[in-house]
Amino acid sequence: MDVSTKDQARTTVFAPRLAELLDRHRGDAVFRLDAGTVGVGDPAVIDRLLWARPMRESERPTFKPFRGKAITRGESSELMQAITRDVRGALRKPLETGIDLSGEWPKVGHCYLRKLMFGADPFRLQLLSRRRLEASHAVSRTVLGTAAALPGGSVSADSAVSDLARHTFGTLTEFDFRHRLHAMGLYRRMASPICNTVSTLVTNASWLAAPFPADTPNRHILLETLRLLPPSWNLLRFASPEYPDIDRRIGPTDDVLLLPLLTQRDPRFWDDPDAYRPRRWADVADPDTVAGYLPFGHASERCWGRHLVLPLAERLMDLMRAGGYRVSPEQTVGRVPLDGLLGVRVRVVRG
Ligand code: HEM
Repeated sequence: MDVSTKDQARTTVFAPRLAELLDRHRGDAVFRLDAGTVGVGDPAVIDRLLWARPMRESERPTFKPFRGKAITRGESSELMQAITRDVRGALRKPLETGIDLSGEWPKVGHCYLRKLMFGADPFRLQLLSRRRLEASHAVSRTVLGTAAALPGGSVSADSAVSDLARHTFGTLTEFDFRHRLHAMGLYRRMASPICNTVSTLVTNASWLAAPFPADTPNRHILLETLRLLPPSWNLLRFASPEYPDIDRRIGPTDDVLLLPLLTQRDPRFWDDPDAYRPRRWADVADPDTVAGYLPFGHASERCWGRHLVLPLAERLMDLMRAGGYRVSPEQTVGRVPLDGLLGVRVRVVRG
């Protein structure tokens, strides 16, 4: 895919498996991916599959059970309330001056968000939102285990820690390792997507658009970025008895992989689908109602964090605008690896 900006031409190169999906299956409603998985690229079929039954616990990206223990509705909504207060508090802070956002993204954006949101939290909690933990499940388990095993764990009422940290320590009444592990695991489940997904989104936006033109609103850039380079590029649902009745190509033991990556570039729904055109959002009152546009999931269970993600991303974009940041003119190719989160690696420079 080519991205031409005023600045220069940039080429986005997808990992072979993603490129194959786009080349071979764009416009396909239902197709076999492997022996046990069927891909779905048609918004009407996706709609029927997702309304057929509620999301199972094991399918939840954020609130799936933690080490076999279910996360209750009450627990999840308390955590979302805590992180919402933290994001609102962070957004009230004046835009920083004199910070350096140049370097390798998404790493730079991740570090900025971590400091902004959780910079005052106890060291053991700060460790849990480190980017390095994303790279290895084993390292993540070890760090989490160590954080939970350390004695102590309280915060004074007047300390500047995040509400998420206050909530985490507030649930620790006595030393019970499993309980502490659970509480700190949930801290990580909340803190990590804030840093990780938002920095990935802003990196993708930078790749498509930086330096951000003065006459293009951040929101339009983000909506178009979420269309072309959606960090959440697929939704997985495990085999279900309702599915074969919806489409006979889905067998009773088939999982289904629903693919916004395809619906959001389907020429039946988008003019010039591979072109980066933020203006296409200028007259759209509610992006949630646009057919095939599912960057935050489907109406049956839309992302709970999306109202936090967009303003945080916009803050980072405002900082990039204010500092005159752009993609390094030397980077003409952006590679998109096959990963849980779809994102480009970008070198950002000033001026
Ligand atoms: C760029 C940022 C993000 C994107 C693109 C995104 C995307 C999505 C998508 C596509 C779903 C639906 C998944 C499905 O139906 O299988 C979802 C659900 C959800 N998201 Fe997000 N998300 C983002 C950030 C966040 C953040 C920062 C949080 C919380 C701090 C969050 C919390 C949730 C929750 C709670 C759900 C409902 C399912 C569950 O309980 O796990 N998301 N998100």
